[in-house]
Amino acid sequence: MPFLENAWYMAAWADEIKPGEMLHRKLLNRPIVFFRRSDMQLAALHDLCPHRFVPLHLGRVKGDAIECGYHGLQFDCSGRCVANPHSDTIPSAARVKSYVIEEKDGIAWIWMGEPSLADRTRLPDFSRLHSAPPSAGSRGYLRTGCNYKLIADNVMDLSHADFVHSDSVGGGAFTRARPQVAEHGDEVHITWECKHDSAPPAYDRHMPEPGQPVHFRTVVHWQAPAIMHLDITITPQNDPQSEGLRTDNAHIATPETETTSHYFYWLTRRFCVDDEEINSRRQAIMHNAFSNEDEPMLRAQQQAMETDDLFALKPVLLPSDAGAVRARRKLEQMIRDEQAARRTQTPT
Ligand code: FES
Ligand SMILES: [Fe+2]
Repeated sequence: MPFLENAWYMAAWADEIKPGEMLHRKLLNRPIVFFRRSDMQLAALHDLCPHRFVPLHLGRVKGDAIECGYHGLQFDCSGRCVANPHSDTIPSAARVKSYVIEEKDGIAWIWMGEPSLADRTRLPDFSRLHSAPPSAGSRGYLRTGCNYKLIADNVMDLSHADFVHSDSVGGGAFTRARPQVAEHGDEVHITWECKHDSAPPAYDRHMPEPGQPVHFRTVVHWQAPAIMHLDITITPQNDPQSEGLRTDNAHIATPETETTSHYFYWLTRRFCVDDEEINSRRQAIMHNAFSNEDEPMLRAQQQAMETDDLFALKPVLLPSDAGAVRARRKLEQMIRDEQAARRTQTPT
């Protein structure tokens, strides 16, 4: 299945792109170089010089342009060649593709498709996470050896936590829950709710009375292509939900290739927000869970599948797959619609 083109993809944490420096990353099989103009606005160009095809990131940032490191052609943020040290003229073919890129909530979002269709009103909203104080939030990046949809499956089907992360964020409650799936516009939501159950170990220690039954609720909001927001509440069984421990987490996957992905995660919490120690402990627990537990499983899954087409393998489906399958179907439909629109626009 091709990638969805007309969509916002997370390219990087905004602070990965530093003034005067370049960041290069392959997205959807395309090499891209990121930099900041002198007014700090982000820019993204195809990372290939049209002269002798060296990566532009081997050059340097000069004012509002990148100077190729091989023979010095300079390209501005629109991809236009603006300086040619070898001649007074600039060859008309000296141009590289530029991408629409926006900074919002500390994230650099890139539009990989038709620039005129880039709709800034549809940029994902992570303002709630962005407003968390530094002592109540942490972020991470993980290059992952699997197709981006396997990461979405992993986050939508949280029952895996009971087996893969049994001593931290799992513990059995997800598997006992009967998840509810709903569509809200372009989003798929899956709600995992357990009552009179035990809190996962990573949360239990923060409860007023550890070991006591809790009401544990996690809602995963998915939007295409693989952008997920998790809203988690854990409350002592008979207390109002508003008094529970609450966390907001983001899991965002961007394809690098068909079988590798950029996995960005962001954890924030609304309890003990000034406690740096809880913050670093939580960061360590979650980083270990994602990089030492999820990633090896996802990589092994991808290698064993030998394809990025899950449904071609006719997988056994369980009730816990309902959200992941709905999200996959929705994404497939969006890709089919996009491909059909492209065919009608292409002159024959
Ligand atoms: S390869 Fe870039 S200027 Fe020659
Ligand atoms: Fe996991």
